[in-house]
Amino acid sequence: MAEISAESPESAPLPMHTHITELLGVRYPIVQGGLAHLAWSGLAAAVSEAGGLGQIGVAHMVTPEDLRADIRRLKELTQAPYGVNFPLGHRPLDAFLDVALEEGAPVITITAGNPEAMIRAIQSSGVKPLPRVMVLVAGVRAARKAADLGADAVIAVGFEGGGHLGRDDIGTITLVPRIVDSVRIPVLASGGLADGRGLAAALALGAEGTELGTRFVATQECVAHIAYKEALVSGAEADTVVVERAIGRPARVLRGPFVERMLAVEEELKRRGASREEALEALLPYIRGEVNVRAAIEGKLDEGFIWAGEGIGLIHDIPTARELIERMVREAREAMSHARLAFGDD
Ligand SMILES: Cc1cc2nc3c(=O)[nH]c(=O)nc-3n(C[C@H](O)[C@H](O)[C@H](O)COP(=O)(O)O)c2cc1C
Repeated sequence: MAEISAESPESAPLPMHTHITELLGVRYPIVQGGLAHLAWSGLAAAVSEAGGLGQIGVAHMVTPEDLRADIRRLKELTQAPYGVNFPLGHRPLDAFLDVALEEGAPVITITAGNPEAMIRAIQSSGVKPLPRVMVLVAGVRAARKAADLGADAVIAVGFEGGGHLGRDDIGTITLVPRIVDSVRIPVLASGGLADGRGLAAALALGAEGTELGTRFVATQECVAHIAYKEALVSGAEADTVVVERAIGRPARVLRGPFVERMLAVEEELKRRGASREEALEALLPYIRGEVNVRAAIEGKLDEGFIWAGEGIGLIHDIPTARELIERMVREAREAMSHARLAFGDD
């Protein structure tokens, strides 16, 4: 961990203050998304040590004990708050939740399904203090529901984002203020944000901070294969596409030969008016977790897909998590001064 904490803290920008920094106990309102197959303790600890909120993902944990081991590794690396991310819908996660609660995870994020049972389980767990709960949402209705259930914050994920998306195709710039206007709990902006201008924009839209997925893949501490990171650096904003529409689970990936083959299958399914079950069967060889791992971890980009958001157009390097976070904060401050000039304030 020495290399992560070695940078002089004197050089770090001053802390920011929003409802999210207060809620999560972090220096900057920058949350690392729960990246399937990539969100392990190394990245999470680096993000948290740098003043953001790092997260460990449950998506790629085979057993609850794998999760426990990774949380413990993280706790050896940092004392800072961290999150554990739960994507619902694939398999029962109760035993994983028990581990996160036993290990005292300070933040739990929930995505891709009805969060009610998990929120209730957390609330009735008797754990003290209760973890902060944040729910990823892509629409007003889901945001209100999360707030009604007692979530502490929502993460509004717009259509530009990498990975799985909402079904209504609403972009971040409209989604965020709509959700800010619809709930009384803090909102984080997510989807297509990759630098400090995005952070400033999120604050201007009424959000209390940001959650970033794709940008954190292209950091040194992320376990993604270097070919994945370099593809994000060289890719432009028009190089992503939405797949899995045929099965009602739109998700954004980087274009490439493998994805073109997947799109051809989807096109054919649409032409035939295939049922969801038929579509699922036809697409399974393209969407299985192993297929993602082959490209994302093993670097075989022609043999699998990699998740990526439109924000890749803003990714030009592979910094450490600390460099990225501190740069974002400085850029956000500059962007705010730029905006203030328009009012003659500076
Ligand atoms: C590689 C990758 C894997 C992801 N896996 C998850 C996941 O397991 N759980 C989750 O909540 N979100 C996941 N997401 C979504 C991110 O948390 C985040 O909401 C999204 O990436 C935001 O858009 P951006 O990529 O433009 O920053 C993933 C995103 C990417 C790029």
